[in-house]
Amino acid sequence: MIQTTSPRRVQINEVAVRDGFQSEPLFVPTEDKIRLIDALSKTGLSKIEVTSFVSPKAIPNLRDAAEVMQAISRQPGVTYVALVPNEKGAERALACSADEINLVMSIGESHNLANMRMTCAQSLQQFGRVMALLAGSGIKVNGTIATAFGCPFEGEQPLERILWAAGEYLALGMHSLTLADTTGMAHPAQVRQVCQVVRAAHPGVPLTVHFHNTRGMGLANVMAAVGAGVDSFDASLGGIGGCPYAPGATGNICTEDTVHMLEACGIATGVDLDALLALSRGLPELLGHPVPGQVAQAGKRTDLRPRPAICTTPA
Ligand code: COA
Ligand code: ZN
Repeated sequence: MIQTTSPRRVQINEVAVRDGFQSEPLFVPTEDKIRLIDALSKTGLSKIEVTSFVSPKAIPNLRDAAEVMQAISRQPGVTYVALVPNEKGAERALACSADEINLVMSIGESHNLANMRMTCAQSLQQFGRVMALLAGSGIKVNGTIATAFGCPFEGEQPLERILWAAGEYLALGMHSLTLADTTGMAHPAQVRQVCQVVRAAHPGVPLTVHFHNTRGMGLANVMAAVGAGVDSFDASLGGIGGCPYAPGATGNICTEDTVHMLEACGIATGVDLDALLALSRGLPELLGHPVPGQVAQAGKRTDLRPRPAICTTPA
């Protein structure tokens, strides 16, 4: 057995109920969303991205955002986040007392237009209004740089463009940053470089990474980010998720698989893996289809099987 003495601790942010449910073919009933969020709240997760205050025409599955945000039982120590694209979304999130607002812009202009129907300049203009609206509210604002590791329409984005977006966000007064790999284009060497450069440019600014496992590189990217000093990871129960405005988009990295891997490596997450696995195993029934998460299917690496008879019967 490899002994690790690493004192590393990272935080895990759950996005299944936003990134996951937004792209489900069928509407997940409001009471099921609330029940799942309440259960997730007790597993040791640092943040839960509860919903998004976007146009209900753009994302019909999250049209119950306000109801969900108001009905959940908030646990101390958990930050309840709402994704917001514009001023109207921020007004709605503010009315429901979200703890944190996550402003999202894709740095690929084409994806921002497809997803948000805005140019990047228009998104930044909206963000300026959001920051003015929230001034003095005590609500923290995270800025997500979507398509940071590649735009599905334009390809890999230059480092300068990532740094440009980070600089714009921080100049507006956002308190933290997320680098999002919206369509699973990131690879570990790129992740290491981008995370190192962004951390060096903005030391002390909390940095989260948000990976999708579209091309099977999700957990490798997590380890690359850990190596680059990142300590905050978005992940989705069961590995569900995906942007409805990016062709071929698939699920986020799976929360329980990520926790299972990190803990095996001696990196503490503070998350109750068994509780997550139990919740993940309920997803196929809730959603009506199988989900990609692997540990919920295979069992933990420490869940040993009974020895076959040949091992116990004397020859
Ligand atoms: N919440 C609810 N409704 C909103 C809204 C918000 N945040 N922003 C705009 N709307 C409404 C407007 O009131 C208007 O309603 P009406 O048709 O009844 O008058 C309608 O949406 C169109 O408004 P407009 O400002 O012209 O928006 P748009 O059609 O250009 O769309 C967005 C812009 C940002 C609202 C839309 O593209 C969107 O919600 N995108 C989010 C996509 C997403 O969540 N992707 C996955 C996560 S990254
Ligand atoms: Zn995502």
